[in-house]
Amino acid sequence: MTAPDAADLLAWYDRHRRALPWRATAGAKADPYRVWASEIMLQQTTVAAVKPYYERFMARFATVQALAAAPSEEVMQAWAGLGYYSRARNLHACAKAVVEQHGGLFPDTEEALRALPGIGAYTAGAVAAIAFDRPAAAVDGNVERVMTRRFAIEAELPGARPLVRDKVLAMLPPGRPGDFAQALMDLGATICTPRNPACGLCPWREPCVARAEGTQESFPRKAKKKAGAMRYGAAFVLTRADGAVLLRTRPAKGLLGGMAEVPTSEWRADYELDGAAQDAPVPLRWTQEAEPVRHVFTHFPLELTVFTGAVPPGTQAPAGMRFTPLGRLGEEPLSGVMVKVLAAAGLRPPPSVP
Ligand code: ADE
Repeated sequence: MTAPDAADLLAWYDRHRRALPWRATAGAKADPYRVWASEIMLQQTTVAAVKPYYERFMARFATVQALAAAPSEEVMQAWAGLGYYSRARNLHACAKAVVEQHGGLFPDTEEALRALPGIGAYTAGAVAAIAFDRPAAAVDGNVERVMTRRFAIEAELPGARPLVRDKVLAMLPPGRPGDFAQALMDLGATICTPRNPACGLCPWREPCVARAEGTQESFPRKAKKKAGAMRYGAAFVLTRADGAVLLRTRPAKGLLGGMAEVPTSEWRADYELDGAAQDAPVPLRWTQEAEPVRHVFTHFPLELTVFTGAVPPGTQAPAGMRFTPLGRLGEEPLSGVMVKVLAAAGLRPPPSVP
């Protein structure tokens, strides 16, 4: 039997569901590849930011086989700008595993999905429910907010996550777990928002405990996070007079692994700008840009001071680096912070060609 909460939510979803590029139309079967790719992109990134990337990505890699067969630079380049680049490396590894170990078909259980690279509890639940209508919970930040408000759960996140998951599982409608998962996501994104939730329009306005108490905006309760210490560094934008800029590739493993960057110093809490010339890729009269570039990574904020310099046409790149013509910058897998550094030096990558 469908619980009253679930029935009300599904009735609301049937009227108000968002049309999203990765979402099957009402009643149609979802393509597991498209569902999975969208869920990986949507981790830590908003729907609005993901949409254009998703469309381009799908045009470029229309099937899991096409993605598995693509060179990794091409995958990183299609991902460039979405951030959290380990997701892209795992995405590529997962596509290869699906092709090599599962004959190109995504497995249809949470357990088998979790065994694949880059698929954790949330993504396994989301793909199992949305693509295969398995009775699974997909608990992300939106769902945590909705459920902690609905039941006025006082326990702090992330510790309260198993409790939230149990509440979702207890409510699952037998016939429509995929729609239920997506309905919860839509409710969290459009009605049960972090601030000023539109409680008057909510299908759960009657049973919601936090709303009855007028405390909805105070949920979810969260344990305080320790912020990482600010790191500093110098970034060197070297242009060659024939219209090329000096780049290198970061090591494959670790932060922004495999991405392209202009040469930089180390990024450290105690970085001394006075010694920046020693970190430059070539000895030169460097010009310091007035405004440093700021960027916030998951574990630390970063401030990079940008230096610009120019060398004559035909200058060779130092070992391990390359001069990329400005017209081809869009083909480089530049991370968000590097796009900011180039912009600070007056350079903008042209849009990439799919
Ligand atoms: N956020 C995460 N996954 C989503 C999905 N499938 N639809 C909408 N928003 C989401």
